[in-house]
Order: sequence, then structure tokens, then C-alpha cells
Amino acid sequence: MINLISIIQIFIFNILGALIAKYQCDCSLFVDEVVCLGIETCDWINDLCVQKDCSNIDEIECDLMGKCSLNPEGKCEATQFCQEYQVKDEIDCMIKKGNCAAQNKKNDAGFYQCKNYISVDCNSLAAENCTNNYEDGQTFCWLNSTKQCQSYSINSCEGLPLDICSKLNCKTSIGICSSFKCSDITSQDQCKYVKDGYWGVLTLCNWKDDSNPTCIDRIDTKDFTNQTCSKLTDARYYWKDESCVSCPKNYEDNSNSQVYLILYLICILIEL
Ligand SMILES: *[C@@H]1O[C@H](CO)[C@@H](O)[C@H](O)[C@H]1NC(C)=O
Ligand SMILES: *[C@@H]1O[C@H](CO)[C@@H](O)[C@H](O)[C@H]1NC(C)=O
Ligand SMILES: *[C@@H]1O[C@H](CO)[C@@H](O)[C@H](O)[C@H]1NC(C)=O
Repeated sequence: MINLISIIQIFIFNILGALIAKYQCDCSLFVDEVVCLGIETCDWINDLCVQKDCSNIDEIECDLMGKCSLNPEGKCEATQFCQEYQVKDEIDCMIKKGNCAAQNKKNDAGFYQCKNYISVDCNSLAAENCTNNYEDGQTFCWLNSTKQCQSYSINSCEGLPLDICSKLNCKTSIGICSSFKCSDITSQDQCKYVKDGYWGVLTLCNWKDDSNPTCIDRIDTKDFTNQTCSKLTDARYYWKDESCVSCPKNYEDNSNSQVYLILYLICILIEL
């Protein structure tokens, strides 16, 4: 039985190729004070690890968290209504101010006014009315390379239009937008993980220290400790039962997904 499970694990590793994680942990999963305080978005209050208040969040991190936004005075606050914000770069209503759309034209002061989004069908929009609209909170409209309106996922760099590629923290190379890979990292200090844009899946990396040192995809978390597990994984892994495991989608429905995983494994076993 154990053998069978390791065969299945190897099988699954070979398909995925690397360790990826989708979700950041709820702060409450960090039960150690030092670990908790090592996570940018968590705070240790009354012996509990809790989500940090926006007013204590670093300026750079602030605008990338849906719940928090920099206000016109440059202070980090809980994200308000879209109408409260104006941005220099039109895509920033969407990526920095929560799920906001933007007016397609600058105002007299040279800013784009953010606005609530009304769900649209990107494919049916004329080019002039395309950008800065949403289909839903995860799918936005932008002009593609043939200047037609197309929908794109906010969670993936793959094939994004080149004019917004780097703004979503993706890599432009030979005229194509894609996510950064572990192999793009050239220093040991930086070789921790790469993300598919700001919000997509996270891939763990590992420094291969031999005659030709390189940053490669990580295949396990065995050398992480209770102190490094969350810190080196952008808080998408946490320490549980003496090992470093990926965070559940959200804390409450974890048991549910485990049931599905077990059912799935049973199906595989039956097939064998
Ligand atoms: C763009 O949107 C405006 C305002 O809704 C509308 O009047 C105009 O006809 C649209 N342009 C095209 C080409 O559909
Ligand atoms: C651009 O978008 C249009 C409409 O969504 C689509 O039909 C067309 O194939 C796209 N062009 C490219 C190069 O992807
Ligand atoms: C973390 O590991 C160290 C060494 O194994 C141990 O002394 C310490 O108690 C652990 N801390 C927690 C919070 O588990």
C-alpha cells in the first residue's frame, strides 16, 4: 500500500513538475509568534496571529492587497468605494484599487478616475470601449495584438497583451508575455519562489549549488523548518504536524477538499 502511494506521488510530481501553491494562508494558521511576525500581512495581537490592519501595511504591499489601498494622501487604508481613487496609470484602478474599472479618458488633472465595474462581455465590445472593463472579478478586457477586445485572466501571465505585461509582474521576452520561471533567477538570495503575475499560482524554487549553480523548480519542502516554511513560501505554506504543507483555499472548507482528495485517490486505486 505504501509503495502504491509513493508511486502515485511520483506520478503526480511528474505531471506537475514542481511544487505550486495557490492560496496564501489565513494568518490564524501561524501559531508561532516569530513566524507570524515574519509574514508581511499578519500581526501578533493578544497571543493570536491575525490579518494586519491596512494602516500598518507597507506602501508597496498595500496596493497589491485587494482589501487595502493607498488613499490620495498616500496612506494605506481599507479599500473604499472605487470612486474614491484616481490613478496615473489606467490599469491601476484594476490592479491596485480593488476590483475597479476605470474611465477610458484622463481627467483634466491627468488622472484616470476609477469606477465600479459593470460586468461586460469583452468579445462584444468595440475597440474604443474595450480596456478597463471586467467580465467578473477575475477576468478583464484588454486589446489584443490585432487591436480587438479580448478577455484575460488576472491570475495568469500567459499571452497577456505586451503593454500591460510588466505591470502585472510578468515577463516580456521575444514579444511574448509569460510568467517568470525559477530559472530566470540568477542569485541564490532571490531563489525562493516565482509567481504567475501578482496573484497567480506560486512555484517554489531551490538553489542547485554545484559546479554550475542555478535556480531550479523545487520538488519537496523537506529542508524547510518550522521557522522557514512560511517565510520562504510567501506564506502559502505553513507548518503542520512537523512538516511544511500548502495552505488550504480557505480555512473553513479545508475538510471538504480533503474529502475530495481522498475520494480521488480511492478512484485511482480502484482503477489500478
Ligand atoms: C462606445 O461606448 C459609447 C458609450 O456607451 C457608445 O456611445 C459608443 O457607441 C460605443 N462605441 C462603439 C463603436 O460601439
Ligand atoms: C483578438 O480577439 C478577437 C476577439 O476576441 C479574436 O477573434 C482574435 O483571434 C484575437 N486575435 C489574436 C491575435 O489573438
Ligand atoms: C521549532 O523547531 C525547533 C527546533 O526543532 C524547536 O526547538 C521549537 O520548539 C520549534 N518551534 C515550534 C513553534 O514548533
